Amino acid sequence: MFRRAASTRGPWRASLGRSLRLLREFRYEQPDPARFYTALADDSVQQLSQYAELAGRSVLDVGGGPGYFRDAFRAEGASYFALDADVGELSGLGDIASGTVIGSGMQLPFADDAVDLTYSSNVLEHVEKPWQMAEEMVRVTRPGGVVFISYTVWFGPWGGHETAPWHYLGGRYARARYARKHGVQPKNKFGESLFKVTVRDGVEWARAQQGAEVVDLTPRYNPRWSRWLMFVPGVREVATWNLAIVLRKK
Ligand SMILES: C[S@@+](CC[C@H](N)C(=O)[O-])C[C@H]1O[C@@H](n2cnc3c(N)ncnc32)[C@H](O)[C@@H]1O
Repeated sequence: MFRRAASTRGPWRASLGRSLRLLREFRYEQPDPARFYTALADDSVQQLSQYAELAGRSVLDVGGGPGYFRDAFRAEGASYFALDADVGELSGLGDIASGTVIGSGMQLPFADDAVDLTYSSNVLEHVEKPWQMAEEMVRVTRPGGVVFISYTVWFGPWGGHETAPWHYLGGRYARARYARKHGVQPKNKFGESLFKVTVRDGVEWARAQQGAEVVDLTPRYNPRWSRWLMFVPGVREVATWNLAIVLRKK
């Protein structure tokens, strides 16, 4: 198992060096998923801690997956709870951890204002009604708490996931092409478990929120100085890869 190096970590910055490090780690996603997801979770938790104190806070991770993010949040002193729709994903590291709920992000089984922070990484593009899920996250966050939602942008290079780059010719085409070439359906099936979510969708949704203020809209993996790309229609869809929306509930 890839070891977490929290004690040797310097201050987190969205620098070019950090983006290049993440890109290098991406090569390990298939051969050594533990290494890749541990590095991604560590980075992501550091990024979130730029917006909110984590120690002693309750965090709900919507679509948390197998548990790499749990370890990273707990290392920062947060009380971590995950919800996921898929038992297979949740048990990817063995037993399903305590504090895990099986359910849908589109209908969170929690009371209003229940947690300090809601967090979701790379889930929105996998749900049929992404903005219903986002609204559910705002609902269960306490006033003053932070909502962090990041998702893979459809028109980015990885928008089609394993069917990329053919998604540029349409999601249905990319899915059918993958099935023809590999003899099996892709894991992420366009129209069933993969949907088209754009930067524009996210920016418009965030700005329309009455019950929460926008703290940040930023390309999650890119250097901070490239953030201006986010505000150029068209270009932002291709250059962003992954959009992080950060809100504070009023
Ligand atoms: C690509 S994985 C992301 C896992 C983890 N958050 C990460 O960033 O590595 C997508 C996750 O979303 C979960 N998921 C899909 N649809 C969901 C839904 N409607 N509600 C909650 N989780 C869902 C999947 O089971 C899977 O664990």
